[in-house]
Amino acid sequence: MTNLPPADHGVPTADDHGGVDGRLPQGGDEADSDREVQYDVVTTPVLVIGAGAAGARVSIELAESGLEPLVIGKRDYGDAHTTWAAGGINAALGSLDPDDDWPIHAADTLNEGHHLNDPEAVELTARHMPDRIRELDEWGVSFARTDDGKINQRYFGAQSYRRTCFVGDRTGEAMLETLIDRAQALEIPYRENVMITRLLSDGSRVDGAVGFDMETGEGLLFRTNHVVLAAGGFSAAYHRHSSRDDENNGDAQALALEAGARLLDTEFVQFHPTGMVGERYGEEWDGRLVTEAVRGEGGRLYNADGERFMERYSPDQMELDARDVVARAIAQEVREGRGTENDGVYLDISHRDPEYIRERLPTMVDRFAELGVEITDEPMEVGPTAHYTMGGVDIDFQTGETGVDGLYAVGEAVAGVHGANRLGGNSLAETVAIGKLVGEHVSEQVAADDHDPTITDGQRALAEREFAALAELAASDGDVTPETLLEELGDLLWTHAGILRDEAGLHDGLDRLEALRARTADLRVDGDRTSRSFEYAVDLSVSLTVAEVLLRTALERTESRGAHYRADYPETEPDWRQNLVVAADAGGLSIKRRGVAEPSEPVREALEEGYELDYHHLE
Ligand code: FUM
Repeated sequence: MTNLPPADHGVPTADDHGGVDGRLPQGGDEADSDREVQYDVVTTPVLVIGAGAAGARVSIELAESGLEPLVIGKRDYGDAHTTWAAGGINAALGSLDPDDDWPIHAADTLNEGHHLNDPEAVELTARHMPDRIRELDEWGVSFARTDDGKINQRYFGAQSYRRTCFVGDRTGEAMLETLIDRAQALEIPYRENVMITRLLSDGSRVDGAVGFDMETGEGLLFRTNHVVLAAGGFSAAYHRHSSRDDENNGDAQALALEAGARLLDTEFVQFHPTGMVGERYGEEWDGRLVTEAVRGEGGRLYNADGERFMERYSPDQMELDARDVVARAIAQEVREGRGTENDGVYLDISHRDPEYIRERLPTMVDRFAELGVEITDEPMEVGPTAHYTMGGVDIDFQTGETGVDGLYAVGEAVAGVHGANRLGGNSLAETVAIGKLVGEHVSEQVAADDHDPTITDGQRALAEREFAALAELAASDGDVTPETLLEELGDLLWTHAGILRDEAGLHDGLDRLEALRARTADLRVDGDRTSRSFEYAVDLSVSLTVAEVLLRTALERTESRGAHYRADYPETEPDWRQNLVVAADAGGLSIKRRGVAEPSEPVREALEEGYELDYHHLE
């Protein structure tokens, strides 16, 4: 568990690991005589933390090479955040636009990432995607087809060609179902409802992980030489976000940082332009995604005065400009008083044929119909919502290695493919393109592994301290609930590190964060380790860590680029084409700059060609 209170970004000291080797007994017990902590020990060759598309794709690769990884997820099998990625997955198949090719996909990704992306990561994704799509198709994903039987592709924001393959507007869900079918056919062990709170690390190598079973409260010590973090991003730390409240809190990033890995570019948070807003939808739907596929299929944005305002902000690309551009345009309309009463705008696709809408956007049609809105006849009320974190763990993209031996990361947990702003449809792409590569590498590492699988007394002590800390957290009997503090944290980030940022606001945000952290000393957890309240308390601890990193890196980057818009530094500065690398050590957080590599020849050529979507030829 990270830092409830006081702030402690430290990695374990040498003392934590100095003991004599010895096997940890099954069901070892308590570290704290007042609060008994029973725990089970589970041994596995590879522990995959996170059961969305990235975790599933890595484990399929591991299983196909003969290994038996253990996949753990915070929720039921198949119920991962991937199911909320709706509109599609990118691959330069050229089904409708034969000129499309992987270097153009890579060039679009770099342009919209404002050239902060890791070019190798981008190329690996773009180059491998056509094969990964054909593989998913073969495995059973029911992609929409053209009349002549090709995989159909739709427009998505800021892409030069129709490149986004789709299953109606439930692409992530369909893809995850197929990956899970495959994982089950390979008999990959899976453990549901488990939350990991600490990695067993001495700062240079990882030897396992500690957590608890959310249904029984039982402590769990996972003994393994190889841990793959595939636990998503941290956009749910924001007040309005497209995830469910109990996912994407920053588990992967906080665990990695604490284990000695580096984070990268954490200031870049994607605000999707079209989250649901409006009283008639109810609080539970606030911020949930209205897929970009609505705009990809022709949806238009109007302000409260009935003006199609994107004409003023992006006359060539209109509603299909990059997400950061459209989100900022909406925010400006609202700020200047042309928004709806609920600080939103209208998204309308009712000019299209109702049958077409039902075929292409069935989830949207049904969801809104249940809320009393017929989108074939009337507009939806929408506004920007925190959707994705481009920043995350710093990895090598050929291998998934984090720089801490035995620790790998993949998917939204990491940074690199998307740079300063992600193209819609590239997140699902990254999960399978990079997931396969990471799976291949980890299986080779396991095969070559001669690391002693026993656990040291130091590691056992570290685990038992964690179990004791969890027990203490569960017994918190102060006055303020974790839900309250999470809400306040969300508001803080929304206000101080939202779509528009500036130095004074970011400093205020850090001050508020410190005050909020101090209040965790007075926490009250209502229930035991199986309670929602306890889960939220753990979420709070990780979210506090990522919020601090986010605010500090946003303060450090004195320019505007992609999703990071500094009102006090509105220009993109060529000298700032650098990544921000964050590490935690005994002295606290350090932030360093790192230059970005150059793309390869074919991608440079595509960049020079200057491909760009022209919205008006769609109309
Ligand atoms: O709008 C969407 O359907 C989201 C897709 C994505 O973020 O890739």
